[in-house]
Amino acid sequence: MDKTRRQLLAGISVVGAGVLVNACRNTPTRTGGATNNENKNEGPAPGEAEAVEVTATEDLMREHGILRRALLVYQESATRLRQDAASVPPDALEKAANLFRVFGEDYHEKSLEEVFIFPAVKKAPGAAAAYVDTLLVQHVRGREITDYVLSLSKADRIPSNSVEPLAKALESFVRMYDHHAAIEDTVVFPAWKAAVGPNELEALGEKFEEIEHEQFGSDGFEAAVKRMEEIEQSLGLSNLDMFTAPPPPK
Ligand SMILES: [Fe+2]
Ligand SMILES: [Fe+2]
Repeated sequence: MDKTRRQLLAGISVVGAGVLVNACRNTPTRTGGATNNENKNEGPAPGEAEAVEVTATEDLMREHGILRRALLVYQESATRLRQDAASVPPDALEKAANLFRVFGEDYHEKSLEEVFIFPAVKKAPGAAAAYVDTLLVQHVRGREITDYVLSLSKADRIPSNSVEPLAKALESFVRMYDHHAAIEDTVVFPAWKAAVGPNELEALGEKFEEIEHEQFGSDGFEAAVKRMEEIEQSLGLSNLDMFTAPPPPK
């Protein structure tokens, strides 16, 4: 990695660490990466989860899992805003949007997809290349919507004339990003995996982990999981059971 890029990533890390700070410490690290060799042959400390190695594509897909949880917060917030705007604490929405900014946009999109995945897929044969331009447009649109959500959620309450526009923006973002991530998971990432081959894939997996540590100062994924759990709890969304669908009509 060249010096300029390292400096850029070091700059981002200040923001990343700030947003994920409460969850960044005391989390287990993954094995197999270039930056945590000191832990390589040690078992987990008492009370720590067993660390597992993940491939580059698995890493990208589980990052989508974090972002899907933020999308659930957006969807539930949109529904509640219309029912009773006062029932949505703006700071929970702000935390979800900040996590999407730092973990989704600055790290997953800008540092991984736009640098490593999309350029390789664009040059590769097959149907995936045709998606890249639209995916890039959607990254930009997503950042515009995140700016909008952050601008409204900084205040103590959402202004009444902004409730419906905010609900609409959240829903349109959820609709776009659900499909965006599904196309990446099922078409773009498999095409990238095929294009780079197994040896480069392994090297890039280590590179991704290095970038993650530079941006977050620790295991960004584990920190983001904890951060999402806190946000879900603050909105009463942490019980998976509540999302079980009712039985269909008989
Ligand atoms: Fe993307
Ligand atoms: Fe993605």
